[in-house]
Amino acid sequence: MYFRPIRLFKLFIIVICIIIITYEIYRLLLRPRKKLSMIRNTDASSILLSKEGFEQHSYTLESFYISLPNFSDDEARNWFYSSSYYKINSKKCPQGSCEEKGVYFNDTKEHLSVNIFLIKNGLYVNDDCGYNYGNDAIQRTFKNSDEPTIIYDKAIIYTVPDGWSFQHFLDGIGPKLSHSKSYLQKYPDAKVIIIQGVRFDRSIKEIWSMLGVEESERIIHYSPHMKIGARLLINPCITPGIHPRLWQDARDMYWSISGISKSSSNSERNNLIYIQRTPTNAMNGARLILNEEPFINILRDYCSKHSLNYVQYDHSKDKDHIRSRIELFYNAKVIIGVHSGALSNMNFAQSKTTIIEIMPYKSSSSSLPMTCSMYRVDDLRACAGYILYTQARLLNQSYWILPIVVNDEGNLNVNITRLQKLLDQI
Ligand SMILES: *[C@@H]1O[C@H](CO)[C@@H](O)[C@H](O)[C@H]1NC(C)=O
Ligand SMILES: *[C@@H]1O[C@H](CO)[C@@H](O)[C@H](O)[C@H]1NC(C)=O
Ligand SMILES: *[C@@H]1O[C@H](CO)[C@@H](O)[C@H](O)[C@H]1NC(C)=O
Ligand SMILES: *[C@@H]1O[C@H](CO)[C@@H](O)[C@H](O)[C@H]1NC(C)=O
Repeated sequence: MYFRPIRLFKLFIIVICIIIITYEIYRLLLRPRKKLSMIRNTDASSILLSKEGFEQHSYTLESFYISLPNFSDDEARNWFYSSSYYKINSKKCPQGSCEEKGVYFNDTKEHLSVNIFLIKNGLYVNDDCGYNYGNDAIQRTFKNSDEPTIIYDKAIIYTVPDGWSFQHFLDGIGPKLSHSKSYLQKYPDAKVIIIQGVRFDRSIKEIWSMLGVEESERIIHYSPHMKIGARLLINPCITPGIHPRLWQDARDMYWSISGISKSSSNSERNNLIYIQRTPTNAMNGARLILNEEPFINILRDYCSKHSLNYVQYDHSKDKDHIRSRIELFYNAKVIIGVHSGALSNMNFAQSKTTIIEIMPYKSSSSSLPMTCSMYRVDDLRACAGYILYTQARLLNQSYWILPIVVNDEGNLNVNITRLQKLLDQI
């Protein structure tokens, strides 16, 4: 009966003791720290600490337009007007009309805001490198050195999907490099983090090397289990994926590292380049031109009439350094080919170059390119099939679309009459 009050009393004494001890420990630990932070700054110490290791450089680019493709006939025009791309984007044309200026891009976050973050003791854990990079992820740091799987002194993040491949280096890493490449030179010991792939394209290795980034010394191939810490983590990821300024600056960078001086060789701009897909060079098969002989004859004819060099380009046979390819495309006047990654070489061609993309589509989904036939026509989604059109416009090139229906194997016959009609208009 009397046990309970005594127990309660004991408990009371214990709690008092704990409070006194805790208070003493608290006092001992916190007093000197408070003094320090008072000397440095009047801010609360937690904010002070997170602010100290954090630096952000930002600017906002101008809004821009992407004009519609050039059409050589009604078939091309009507096809494009019923595409999912047009259905989504025509909502963004000023006064509901796309003809005059094209689609207007002005979303601050997605299209205009360029940022670089420098984080002390930053921690990178498999975040997607793009304008949607989370705020918390950007500011993530490590406290103990056993948190990351590896710690570098300095590292720069370029972890865009498939950035190890030629095509996705150009459309993913290039625009981010164009505003952050100065950090590669400023910190020549900084590691460069890219996504690990099934291969690392030679041409991309060569571009990095021309930028002073040797694979053996600086490239880190990131795989998802890694947690990368860096005493200084440089993050250029929150940057628009598409903006003419970034793309044209990236192009200037490719020219400059290849030793091309812009003014000198304007008169040599006389290549007509046919980008050839063959059963052996195409990674995904299909999209082959079945009537290639008459197709090539028309191109050769056009070249002789306009004093152009006819160049047939098969990337699988190109064993030269990327520098030669950059020069070849720098001197292009016309580039023509069926939709494929190799058309990304247009990134080395000048403004006003004519780009002709033969867009293969299936008759069963007559308004979608083959490369996004998994979407239903009424399922409005952006489609990778329009990426080369977008690129050409960002690069201020004259883009023509020639949609051609494919057979059951995904191959096509180019209608020679239509091709001739197009060539007559450029
Ligand atoms: C192609 O379209 C663009 C934009 O609409 C236009 O400025 C250009 O003059 C066109 N090129 C030709 C050759 O018609
Ligand atoms: C973008 O343009 C639209 C239409 O002109 C306008 O309503 C909107 O306020 C603009 N947004 C920004 C961020 O400028
Ligand atoms: C694009 O090219 C046209 C000429 O074709 C030129 O007038 C214009 O200034 C260029 N724009 C940019 C952003 O380079
Ligand atoms: C080629 O295109 C022209 C013009 O659109 C058309 O009249 C002709 O029937 C087409 N030829 C074939 C073989 O489809």
